[in-house]
Amino acid sequence: MRQSLKKRVAVLISGRGSNMTALIEAAKAKDYPAEIVLVVSNRPDALGLARARQAGIATALVDHTAFGKDREAFERALDMELEAKRVDIVCLAGFMRLLTPGFVDRWSGRMINIHPALLPRFKGLDTHRRALQAGVEEHGATVHFVSAGMDEGPVILQKSVPVLGSDTEASLAARVLEVEHQIYPQALRLVAEGRARMPGPASTVRGGAQ
Ligand code: GRF
Repeated sequence: MRQSLKKRVAVLISGRGSNMTALIEAAKAKDYPAEIVLVVSNRPDALGLARARQAGIATALVDHTAFGKDREAFERALDMELEAKRVDIVCLAGFMRLLTPGFVDRWSGRMINIHPALLPRFKGLDTHRRALQAGVEEHGATVHFVSAGMDEGPVILQKSVPVLGSDTEASLAARVLEVEHQIYPQALRLVAEGRARMPGPASTVRGGAQ
């Protein structure tokens, strides 16, 4: 695929950035429909920032602590970075900030997230501990479009892993992380190619008679 036809992607991180790395690796393939043009972190100490720089990707730091409680000002700064790089699609990858409805709306259908559980089960934090406590036999990961409710947008891809009797939180997390690194690049491909779309309002029927 010609470079100019590829969707321009920003990855938003807060930590180690292993999913970000999986996306960067996948995007190296010639026929991959997206290129990672920017990695943004809200934390100066995010390990992923160094990893992105090593991979030769442009990085930006938008430190939320500089904006106090003003989430909108933080997001305006974020938007400026995204606009400067003409970003088409935003991938949240361990990005630990709640986004305002305004920001979510602006990026609706163009912002996706990875969650370490089989949504709608185990929204929120500590998913592996809660899965073990609940005694589920299957756990996994989900990539979904971001919508107003936390971890609630339409699912793009999911993959499950077995939960073993011997599992600890760490062993289960490692097994889930492996599938995260598989499905995130696959899901981004689907979105970049327009094969996965955020469902629109029921009234927008494509190709219908006037
Ligand atoms: C992943 O488990 C992801 O599903 C969750 O946060 C973690 C981020 O890990 N949202 P990494 O920074 O991608 O290594």
